[in-house]
Amino acid sequence: MKYIVGNWKSNHNLATGVEFLTQLHELEASQPRLKDIEQEIVICPPFPLLGQLNEENNRLGLDLKFGVQNLSSYPAGAYTGEVCTQNLADLGVQYVILGHSERRRYLEETSVQIGAKVTQALIAGLKPILCVDEPYLQEQADTLDSSQFEQIIIAFEPLSAIGTGQSLSSESVAPVIEKIKKTYSAQTPVLYGGSVTGETVSSYLDICDGVLVGGASLTATSFRQLYM
Ligand code: PGA
Repeated sequence: MKYIVGNWKSNHNLATGVEFLTQLHELEASQPRLKDIEQEIVICPPFPLLGQLNEENNRLGLDLKFGVQNLSSYPAGAYTGEVCTQNLADLGVQYVILGHSERRRYLEETSVQIGAKVTQALIAGLKPILCVDEPYLQEQADTLDSSQFEQIIIAFEPLSAIGTGQSLSSESVAPVIEKIKKTYSAQTPVLYGGSVTGETVSSYLDICDGVLVGGASLTATSFRQLYM
């Protein structure tokens, strides 16, 4: 299975999000997905767009899966401003990006908090896409129970490559993928993220289980170029 995961970050609103799906539907009509390749196409929009995009996806028969970009480390309750798994019921959410470097950097999220979020996601049956870079690869693993290793997806996201246009070559990514599989589990799917485009995507799909994409996931045209 190959995962193509689009991280919209704090981009798009309801109108532009729906327009994205409409355009993607048109692009898939003229260039249908290859049926003999097992691929999961996931979009992670901002929380407020989820309900309507999920309905639109079903109406158009697009077969996109949805994820969110963060989650409360607490269950439902008195945690003002937090979004927990229970709040996401019936919105078609299957994945959750956790521990993105932007959250570690700007919101000072710690590996321990992120570990707690992984647990909340797994309890609710959401699949965590846990973002790591080499400096905290082991520190993040230490916050988890080893029984969780095979239940998650890891995204290797080198800081120097995120949003910079300076993607790492697949030759430099390959040994890190191996290291991550050794630290977590050989069964854990590992994605690469950092300035992936339609031109570079296939080199990563050759060496790992998929890609996590920011900038190139924002228009239907550039997103459609990421999968077969
Ligand atoms: P980018 O973002 O593709 O724009 O580099 C990747 C990410 O932040 O996951």
